[in-house]
This record gives sequence, structure tokens and C-alpha cells, in this order.
Amino acid sequence: MRSFTDRVSDIDISGIRKMFEAAGTDSINLGLGEPDFPTPAHICDAAVDAIRRGHTGYTPGAGIPELRDALSEKFLHDNNIAVTPDEIIVTAGASEALHIVLQALVEPGDDVLIPDPGFVSYSALSRIAGGRAIGVPLVDLVMDPDVVAEQITRNTKVLILNSPSNPCGSVQSRKDIRALAELAEDYDFTIISDEVYEFLIYEGEHVSPAEFTDNVITVNAASKTYSMTGWRLGYLAARPEYIEQFHKVHQYVQACAGSVAQFAALAAITGPQDCVYEMREHFRTRRDVLLNGLREMGVECATPMGAFYLFPRVGDSDRIAAELAERGVIAVPGASFGANSAEHIRFSYATGDSDIVRALERMHDVFL
Ligand SMILES: Cc1ncc(COP(=O)(O)O)c(C=O)c1O
Repeated sequence: MRSFTDRVSDIDISGIRKMFEAAGTDSINLGLGEPDFPTPAHICDAAVDAIRRGHTGYTPGAGIPELRDALSEKFLHDNNIAVTPDEIIVTAGASEALHIVLQALVEPGDDVLIPDPGFVSYSALSRIAGGRAIGVPLVDLVMDPDVVAEQITRNTKVLILNSPSNPCGSVQSRKDIRALAELAEDYDFTIISDEVYEFLIYEGEHVSPAEFTDNVITVNAASKTYSMTGWRLGYLAARPEYIEQFHKVHQYVQACAGSVAQFAALAAITGPQDCVYEMREHFRTRRDVLLNGLREMGVECATPMGAFYLFPRVGDSDRIAAELAERGVIAVPGASFGANSAEHIRFSYATGDSDIVRALERMHDVFL
């Protein structure tokens, strides 16, 4: 019998997979966390152009200089943070950024505080890094600095923040982000701020904790903003002492992000931004249709301020997800997102308008 490390074999990926396996061919998939829009044409053109110009080899490990320059400007313009191009590493999606950061920061026995409910990768990647993932129960679907403070021990190494949030669609207030940044300073831990949904925000403002402290790694990606999930293009920003260590992991696991994707991302970040706002407004309309439809069926659901998920409380979400799957609607039961989430279910509205309407019709049998 072959043996595998506990830190890998203990990880359960069955929650979401079960739902997809239960899906019939006619199912409507509200389970996916990726925009359904094609990548905007000017971005695709830049990629084709990069291939034609022969940009098909390795790039500098940290990313092409033009892209890091553009990202440095983006951070100042969009996030109000001063980051030099040398303080940026371009990665294969936000996923790689999360992985290399946790590998560099977490020792066995270290605690990583993660939002519960939270994005599935946080717990898995913390454990793969040898750490313990400690779920911080969210209060009204956001991270409350007082609750975080109660969980801090001498083992606390990292706090992962994700605003706007997957799966909750919630957005952290400036006041709370500042308070969490102060905790990071006072107790000397590092915040990983996962900002991949920063432009998918319908109410409220997006605030980066790096405005308030240097103890932050800002993680972001082209994936959700520009509908570029398959291009695998993300990036991180941090102070030089961090970057020096992250480079080593990045170099040996990835060498560099894809060359063509980097040129595509350059066009995305420096080009017209109308596509971003158009996609966001589509998502807003869909959010309202799904939200109103659910509420009309008596389903209790907070209005999400960002991302493209609804996270209503439905009771036994495993049972509800199974009943929905039988009627051809795929959603993800809350338990996939942490111990505090079992009563919720995640619906993604990153799917076609007519599919949302049809899905609501199919839900009648389950919720009414
Ligand atoms: C909160 C969050 N962070 C990171 C990612 C991964 O992003 P990427 O596709 O850029 O690796 C996702 C994808 O669903 C996500 O929801």
C-alpha cells in the first residue's frame, strides 16, 4: 500500500465534486465560481500578437517588467498603495500566489486564521504548508476584529482576509480593515489579503489593508476582473523582505507565469476598463433577479455587496443541494466552506440570464 503525507491525504475535495457528479446533462450549474463572459477581444488580440511576436519563452521569474510597471501604477491608482515593480511577483493565478506565500510563511504548528465560511483553498493550502487552519466564525458574513482578536495566540502566523468574499459576497468596511491591520501590527502576524473580486462590488468600497500596515501580502488576479480564469494570471505585492523569500518558492514551483498570459494581462490592465464595468452591471442585474426570486420563495438571504455569489441560509444544505440536484440545479452546500457554514448554500450567478430564470423555476419544488 503506497503511503502519502497526511497533510495531503487528509484533504477532502469531495464536497463540491459530489455536486458535479450528481449533475445530469440538462443541469443548470449555479456551482461554478467563474465569469461566463468571454475574455474581452482586445485582451485576446494582445495575446495573439504576443505569440506572433515570438513571446513564447520563459520570462523573468517575477514577470515581464512592463506588466510589473503597470501593476505598480494600478496599485497606486486603484488601491491607494505605493508598491514598486520590484515588490510585485506575477504568478499563475491567485492560487499560486496563495500557495507560495503560505509555503514561505507557515511552519508546522503555526496557525493560519481563515474566514469561516471562506474560500475552499485557504484551509487546504494552509494544511499543505504544514500549518493549522483555524476558522474564524464570521459575524453577519464579515470578519469581526473582536472575534479575530479572541482567536490570536502565540501560534498565529497569518490571517487571511477576502473582501469581497467567496462564498458570502460580503464586503469588509474600512473601519474593520483598519482594525484588523492594527491587530497585525500589535501581534506581529501577516495578513494575506485576497482581493480577486475587488472590482465586482455593487455597494460599499473596496479597501486594501496594505493602506494601513506593511504586514500584508496583497494577492490579486486577472481571473475574475477580466474574465480570464483559464489564462492563469495572478500577482502579489509585498515588502522586499517577503518578496525575497517568495521568489525562491515561485522560482522552483513555477519558474514564471505564462508569457502569453502576461501580455494579455498587460493589455487588460492598461487598456479600456469599460468591459469590467459592463460585466459588473450584468452581474448586478443577475444578482437582483436571483435574490428577489429566492426571497419570493421565502428563502432568507442577505444582499451580497460584491463577488457573484448568494449565500442564503437554508437549513440542512446537504439535503437542499441534493434535492436541487435531482431537479437539475447545481449549487454548493455550505459545509464545503467551513464548519460554520452548514446551514448555508452557495449559488453563483456567473451564469446566463435565462439559466437563472429557469433555475428559479426549478427551485419552486424545493423551497415552496
Ligand atoms: C477568493 C478567491 N481567491 C482566489 C481564487 C483563485 O483565483 P485564480 O483563478 O486566479 O487562481 C478564487 C477562485 O475562485 C477565489 O474565489
